[in-house]
Amino acid sequence: MNILVTGGAGYKGIKLTTRLLSEGFDVTILDNFMYGYEPILHLVENRKLTILKQDIRNPISDLHKYDAIFHLAGISGFPACAANPNSAVLINVEATKQLVNSISKDQIFINASTTSMYGKSGKPCNEDTLIDPVSTYAQTKYEAEKIVQEKENTISLRFATVFGLSPRMRMDLMVNDFTYRDIKEGALVLFDSFAKRTFIHIDDAVDCYLFTLKNYDKMKGGVYNAGGDHLNYSKKDIANLIKQKIEYTIVDSDMKDKDLRHFTVNYEKIRTIGYTPKLTVEDGIDHMIKAFTFYEYYSHFKTI
Ligand SMILES: NC(=O)c1ccc[n+]([C@@H]2O[C@H](COP(=O)([O-])OP(=O)(O)OC[C@H]3O[C@@H](n4cnc5c(N)ncnc54)[C@H](O)[C@@H]3O)[C@@H](O)[C@H]2O)c1
Repeated sequence: MNILVTGGAGYKGIKLTTRLLSEGFDVTILDNFMYGYEPILHLVENRKLTILKQDIRNPISDLHKYDAIFHLAGISGFPACAANPNSAVLINVEATKQLVNSISKDQIFINASTTSMYGKSGKPCNEDTLIDPVSTYAQTKYEAEKIVQEKENTISLRFATVFGLSPRMRMDLMVNDFTYRDIKEGALVLFDSFAKRTFIHIDDAVDCYLFTLKNYDKMKGGVYNAGGDHLNYSKKDIANLIKQKIEYTIVDSDMKDKDLRHFTVNYEKIRTIGYTPKLTVEDGIDHMIKAFTFYEYYSHFKTI
């Protein structure tokens, strides 16, 4: 099977590509490498990997040769979209529209969507809950998802917030950010510490992509929350899970967070088909504590 991974040099894309290669697939990464090249250098020697340095806004030549397309390229997350709102619309929405309109009905298209679109009600949300995007990121991902859903040969996975290590690290993701600050600064200031979110380990997110490919016939045409019911936590819960492992000070501020998200997500739909994440938030914290004792994060691209 010949697979295209857009955004294949990103936080999730590199780990997905690595896994697809290890399973024997032919993989092409399409990415503009806005976060650098180093994170994928270890994969370049693999004969089954092709790399296209290209902007997703431009037409993709020979698109029809791919049996499946995992669409991950985009401006990802609240801070990056807030800093680049026009690019977010052009890349997350318009480029997705152009890509989806160019695929044939025989191709499998799996879209990286997000639970971020569930808003700030604080209530349990499933795939039928009214969407309430409270950021440019959520709004653009929702617009993209609606475009994707117009085609039957697509699946949109609304992922929980991912955590864990990847060759291209993201520090704007909550568990990663909290763990890093606690280790480096010895203190963490919480805004809206009651706010609930939902999480998934990066390896489980990759498993979910593979699960979706294998179960395409059952899942085709649908939207699925991608995560686990046992992985809904408040910010304070996450801070306390880290505190069980390392000593640091939690400052519970009464200031408001600019990021308004607050919801609990129900994962029954994908669980019923057979997908449940295996790793816990504690597992991810352990992995990151090990890394962050020596690792210093640097990014020229300001997203936090
Ligand atoms: N990480 C999460 O918590 C999470 C949760 C839900 C959904 N998602 C979605 O999953 C996808 C991947 O997220 P990620 O965490 O790996 O983010 P990421 O920012 O690390 O990856 C996005 C990739 O897209 C590439 N890209 C950006 N603009 C491009 C353009 N114009 N042309 C070509 N490539 C371009 C970037 O270079 C990057 O490699 C995104 O669509 C994101 O919205 C992520």
